[in-house]
Amino acid sequence: MRHILTLSTLLLATAAVAAGEPKLGQPLHDKQCVSCHVKQMGGDGSKIYTRSPRLVNDKKALRERVALCAKNTGAGWRPEDEENVTAYLNEQYYTFK
Ligand code: HEC
Repeated sequence: MRHILTLSTLLLATAAVAAGEPKLGQPLHDKQCVSCHVKQMGGDGSKIYTRSPRLVNDKKALRERVALCAKNTGAGWRPEDEENVTAYLNEQYYTFK
């Protein structure tokens, strides 16, 4: 039994890494993405993620939007940077499964 628990913990940890790391995404997001959203929405810009209706309604759309915006800003992000920012936005605002 203990073995099974250890194994599933390990699998969960691996899945978390593959799905991106919010802590690594936040500084990238704050640096490249916030100022323009602030201009659009005022405040701290986060209303762009919580407005209704919003553009993004599932995880796939979120990932695609992050990739598109990153490309537009010329941030030069690697795929793992995009994953980390996707994970950050999902944790903070979208909470898709
Ligand atoms: C030059 C301005 C600008 C920059 C820089 C920018 N965005 Fe955006 N972003 C927008 C605008 C404008 C919208 C709303 C588009 C619309 O309503 O059609 C938006 C919308 C979004 C949405 C969808 C919000 C929703 O409705 O669910 C996400 C996610 C997003 N941006 C992520 C990012 C990320 C990640 C970055 C950094 C790589 C970034 N943006 C940088 C202007 C910007």
